[in-house]
Amino acid sequence: MTAKIIDGKKTAEILRTELAQKIALETIKPYLAVVLVGDDPASLIYDRNKQKAAQAMGMECVIHHLPQETTEDELLNLVTELNIDKKVNGIIVQMPLPKHIDSSAVIKAIAHEKDVDGFGPYNAGLLHENDSQAMIAATPKGILYLLKQALGDLSGKHAVIIGRSNIVGRPLASLLLNNNCTVTVTHTKTVDLPSICRQADILVSACGQAKMVKKDWVKDGATVIDVGMNRDGGKLCGDVDFDEVKEKAAYITPVPGGVGPMTIAMLLDNTYQAFLRQHNVK
Ligand code: GUN
Repeated sequence: MTAKIIDGKKTAEILRTELAQKIALETIKPYLAVVLVGDDPASLIYDRNKQKAAQAMGMECVIHHLPQETTEDELLNLVTELNIDKKVNGIIVQMPLPKHIDSSAVIKAIAHEKDVDGFGPYNAGLLHENDSQAMIAATPKGILYLLKQALGDLSGKHAVIIGRSNIVGRPLASLLLNNNCTVTVTHTKTVDLPSICRQADILVSACGQAKMVKKDWVKDGATVIDVGMNRDGGKLCGDVDFDEVKEKAAYITPVPGGVGPMTIAMLLDNTYQAFLRQHNVK
């Protein structure tokens, strides 16, 4: 079997075009504030990409780029200013933050109606409760969109997730559970990871280990979603050994061009939804 490639880049382009058409009809433009602390090169690239994508679809997007030595209080003050600024609809604080700043305190400080990352306890709690008003973290939301597009109804499928981060693994587990999957979350202390992965109808890897998932970890006909963004000798690659695994899976996402572009599209969708709610449209 050779897997069908799930083209996240193309799907994201279609979603962005649809969103741009809706935004073109608005007199006020949705406004996303991105806060970046320090000079992590990967974060800088992600945030510039978010800004380019937002501006290309007619949104306002301002990056607040603060120096590495910014204190937690200074960052919290900026978040408070953005919370009360009526023109700002969505706020994201790029993770990871420098070690001297408590990320959890900063995430909790973002007003829940502007929390377009969905990382705060209010939105994470709504997702946990399967409440339709939850602002859902962009990467899990993008993964769900791709899975439904490829497979249709997900009911009864066994999803195995590698990684338990607050950004991907945990919210994705809730989201797939809310879509009637049987969900197993694995992590660094999991015993015999390959044998658990072999049980998966849907295998999602978000562990950040280049090409860790091999073909003998994958059941014939499984759907494999690769969230990894790793460097292998300078070349960008995922957590999945794509060349091997594509011979075993029915569907697979490539890196780049799979989950990554969907994350940006879903973040901008969340910003538009926040904008509509703040203008009492939804
Ligand atoms: N770092 C890695 N992914 C993300 C994301 O989706 N949002 C934020 N704020 N930081 C991240």
